[in-house]
Amino acid sequence: MEQAQFQRFCEIAHQRAGIRLGKGKEALVAVRVGRRVRALGLADAKAYLAYLEADKTGEELVSFLDVISTNHTYFYREPEHFDVLATFIKDAVKGGQRRFRLWCAASSSGEEPYTIAVTLCEAMGPTKCDVRLLATDISTDVLTKAQNGLYNEERVSKIPRAIVAKYFEKCRLANGEPGYRASEVLRRMVVFKRLNLSTLPFPMTGPLDVIFCRNVMMYLHDDVRTSLISECSRLLRNNGLLILGRCDTAGRGSPELRHSGQSVYIKE
Ligand SMILES: C[S@@+](CC[C@H](N)C(=O)[O-])C[C@H]1O[C@@H](n2cnc3c(N)ncnc32)[C@H](O)[C@@H]1O
Repeated sequence: MEQAQFQRFCEIAHQRAGIRLGKGKEALVAVRVGRRVRALGLADAKAYLAYLEADKTGEELVSFLDVISTNHTYFYREPEHFDVLATFIKDAVKGGQRRFRLWCAASSSGEEPYTIAVTLCEAMGPTKCDVRLLATDISTDVLTKAQNGLYNEERVSKIPRAIVAKYFEKCRLANGEPGYRASEVLRRMVVFKRLNLSTLPFPMTGPLDVIFCRNVMMYLHDDVRTSLISECSRLLRNNGLLILGRCDTAGRGSPELRHSGQSVYIKE
């Protein structure tokens, strides 16, 4: 791919999704754009760039962002955060709270929001609560996977066996392999929607009890990260939790967020 084309792809990713590409990402962009080139039967990246820029429906932009985004995730990633969530929910239930609103801001293929859902069920126990968990991502591909809730044995191996037995059903995957499906209880708890974290303000009204926004900020430009953090802070209730990834920090956009360790912030 020529440098000028690479730079234009970077500009589009930045302008339309706040995604930071750039130096050192040439090979990655070439491979990912190559998928769209082949899917559309085009000659090369130059032809694809022309196609992308000419498409006024916005549909190709969605597909471009699908291939360009990094969706790596797994069940119980950074497990200390689920312990923090469990303690927070148990304390709130003990204190009489029965309504919970949570948001998983970059949910990828569903492993993270389903881990949150399991943690909520286990922490609430038999107490009946009104719970809504919104899970969003920019990529329509991963949102479809997440909604289906189907995972192969290797992915499920990260989940404790007793939890698999309680919250997942054995099934056959489309390729004939044995796999698991998130149970109806979990699937009914999570609402998946497409949301671009670089387009403010977000449509939710809040106040939210907990926001998970993990392992996405490293892919975003600084200005987008700053506005994302202040938008999260606006949406949280007092004493609500913002949980970032281990490698993320809340930085400047967050005067009301107090760091309480382990990339967890409390709204004050
Ligand atoms: C590396 S995954 C992290 C998934 C999960 N949060 C975790 O920690 O395992 C990053 C996710 O952020 C999403 N993403 C990237 N840019 C985004 C944006 N501007 N708006 C919404 N989601 C975005 C990607 O599609 C991807 O699914």
